[in-house]
Amino acid sequence: FQTLKGFPKDFLWGASTSAYQVEGAWNEDGKSPSVVDMLVHPEEAADFTVASDHYHRFREDVALFAELGLKAYRFSVAWTRILPHGTGEVNQAGLAFYQQLIDELLHHGIEPVVTLYHFDLPYILEQQGGWSNRATIDAFVEYAGVLFTAFGSKIKYWLTINEQNTLILHPGAVGMPEGGELPSKQVLYQQNHHMMVAQARVMALCHQRCPAGKIGPAINTTSMYQETCHPLDAIAAHNWETLRCWSFLDVAVHGRYNALAWRYLEDRGLAPVMAAEDAALLLQGKPDYVAINYYSTATIAASRGDASDVSARAGDQQIMLGEPGVYRAAENPFVDKTQYGWVIDPVGLRLTLRKTCERYHLPILITENGIGAPDTLQPDGTVNDDYRIEFMRQHVEQMQMAINDGVELIGYCPWAAIDVVSTHQGYAKRYGFIYVNRGEKDLLDLRRIKKNSFGWYQRVIASNGEQR
Ligand code: BG6
Repeated sequence: FQTLKGFPKDFLWGASTSAYQVEGAWNEDGKSPSVVDMLVHPEEAADFTVASDHYHRFREDVALFAELGLKAYRFSVAWTRILPHGTGEVNQAGLAFYQQLIDELLHHGIEPVVTLYHFDLPYILEQQGGWSNRATIDAFVEYAGVLFTAFGSKIKYWLTINEQNTLILHPGAVGMPEGGELPSKQVLYQQNHHMMVAQARVMALCHQRCPAGKIGPAINTTSMYQETCHPLDAIAAHNWETLRCWSFLDVAVHGRYNALAWRYLEDRGLAPVMAAEDAALLLQGKPDYVAINYYSTATIAASRGDASDVSARAGDQQIMLGEPGVYRAAENPFVDKTQYGWVIDPVGLRLTLRKTCERYHLPILITENGIGAPDTLQPDGTVNDDYRIEFMRQHVEQMQMAINDGVELIGYCPWAAIDVVSTHQGYAKRYGFIYVNRGEKDLLDLRRIKKNSFGWYQRVIASNGEQR
């Protein structure tokens, strides 16, 4: 291209968090435990119960978000604060908390972007079978209905389920249940189907109750490279890109299963049982936009069909190496990695945005992107996270190129607005623009400190992406 378009005037420069990772107050004001509250954490694991204490400090945090210049703040509502029994009686104290948070954001001119459900299913529903139980579909619709009624006039952007694909493909990434037993693949794909139906019904309900509201799915989305130009590597990369990402978004957007993914499920006896009304219900879900969480790309080769395809442990992490007959993970010599082994690939973001745009013809909101690092507070009171600035600078640059390519990108909400507890790697793995002064167990004074990236992002937002 000979010209480079700027960011649209109303571009949503934002940042994200999720309820259980930031709020704390896990059992206060009528909140019941969620599945993540009940996970078994190793002895040395971070204290989740206080997280970043945002529940008690949200006004101070929102004031900092306003100083940062955020145009949008993506957060999730804890289902367990609103409906402590999963369904039924509404906890007014829970509604009041989010009402105040939303009002505080709007007062500062920050657009709230609300995720209905971010990994934290009410534990009471889990005890009744969780997403394996079809009744959870009704529970989710009921819960979403409470939020649409309470906040529908104030919320323009809703998100259904955060990273349904992570929940299904890497259930251990969110934590281990008691007894360490993860559900079988067959159970997981049945749960997936129930979530798909629930999501479609919730999208339809949102359109009915909140005429000005927009709603979409939020999937962890990434492009896959083939290791070589061997045609079988290309098929393997396509296999995994479809099974990992597109198969989830296809159902959300088109209301029907992806053909390749369905054959994969059928062939392995993993196809979910569908009730007679499900095909019609899936078609009811018509998202207004697609949200993507983008962190890195993967490089894929043809399966060898032996044990070297399957997963292995590296340190405390379960690494997916592949699946016999489907794909095998390979190394990409052209990209760097974070300290936690995640591939850093800004150009991959441009590619992923192009593909998502081409496939769905919908506006796209980036709801997560960021670098986890053990940021440290210096004796002079500063936090030098220049690697985060570099990471984001390169991603913002590629976003602009994607816009220039024709992608309708409406906003960027990196992970995270403020330090939060990582899903399974403690508090030392930080992502925020704002440092929270606490250790894994030692909660110190939880004071908020602006990192170097805070000033950088402030300038990016103030110049609508020009100064970076
Ligand atoms: C996303 C999740 O997958 O990645 C977030 O939606 C999570 O909840 C983020 O925190 C970073 O992952 P992690 O494992 O480093 O916390």
